[in-house]
Amino acid sequence: HAADAMHTDLMTITRFVLNEQSKYPESRGDFSILLSHIVLGCKFVCAAVNKAGLAKLIGLAGETNVQGEEQKKLDVLSNEVFVKALVSSGRTCILVSEEDEEAIIVEPSKRGKYCVVFDPLDGSSNIDCGVSIGTIFGIYMIKDAGAARLEDVLQPGKNMVAAGYCMYGSSCTLVLSTGSGVNGFTLDPSLGEFILTHPDIKIPKKGKIYSVNEGNAKNWDGPTAKFVEKCKFPKDGSPAKSLRYIGSMVADVHRTLLYGGVFLYPADKKSPNGKLRVLYEVFPMSFLMEQAGGQSFTGKERALDLVPKKIHERSPIFLGSYDDVEEIKALYAAEE
Ligand code: AHG
Ligand code: MN
Ligand code: MN
Ligand code: MN
Repeated sequence: HAADAMHTDLMTITRFVLNEQSKYPESRGDFSILLSHIVLGCKFVCAAVNKAGLAKLIGLAGETNVQGEEQKKLDVLSNEVFVKALVSSGRTCILVSEEDEEAIIVEPSKRGKYCVVFDPLDGSSNIDCGVSIGTIFGIYMIKDAGAARLEDVLQPGKNMVAAGYCMYGSSCTLVLSTGSGVNGFTLDPSLGEFILTHPDIKIPKKGKIYSVNEGNAKNWDGPTAKFVEKCKFPKDGSPAKSLRYIGSMVADVHRTLLYGGVFLYPADKKSPNGKLRVLYEVFPMSFLMEQAGGQSFTGKERALDLVPKKIHERSPIFLGSYDDVEEIKALYAAEE
């Protein structure tokens, strides 16, 4: 009857995080407050993305960022929204954004104990054609309370206390891990609340999809070329894998997390460290993959073991279903 249709015990992301917080009696709720500000930023960007075409928010902003990329209007707007939301939360001390050349040191009166690294708008090349894009974030605790120093954000990804992304696609989905599993929340625009829709996400152990920009194939190294060849022409008579590549990391990773398979952004002769940025793309997605039972490899080591030296450092990345990444690790090991 009607009551079954309407779910009345709504698990919102706010309630979910407060439940998590209650596991730590000494917690003063700082993380919950920080997360509520990140969620606010995601809701704002979601609204902006949904009306981008109508509100003249597509196209170039006319600037170039530290990555040497032409910034889109939505890159700049999203960045402003998240910087303002994070600083005003009073719970952060250092911010690293893809769109800011230098780390942002929060003024002492507004400082808290968290460092947030983020990609305010991921998949910018897909904005103008309305294909899914997203926001990616990772959260560290600062090493020592008083000072806000750069080494507080140059920590290996395994030190992150939380990571997540928000995908602005056919629905607005926020996927989060605070270190005990992965949960997905879908924005109900009529309530303005993120509702738990994907509890305890676990990635399939093996997948049937590989996700890579085949346009870079001429520049790949041996192991990557061998793995992709095997996906297309399996020797053991198993069916070939499907290729799915959206070009927004958030969308490719979200599909990989839910359906299984492997996402690759390998090194190549042009860019020996690949393209994806360690702090705010590789680490958060690797953290989520491990929390969901998958894994993430750089071609040399476990991605979360990397110790970044610069805030916009890049790394090759192979992430997804545990068994699929194992195959890639074996191919790189054989090369050594
Ligand atoms: P961003 O838009 O934040 O700069 O990130 C774009 C990244 C990532 O989203 C995606 O996986 C990758 O660029 C796609 O790169 P190619 O177009 O070279 O395949
Ligand atoms: Mn960019
Ligand atoms: Mn990105
Ligand atoms: Mn970006």
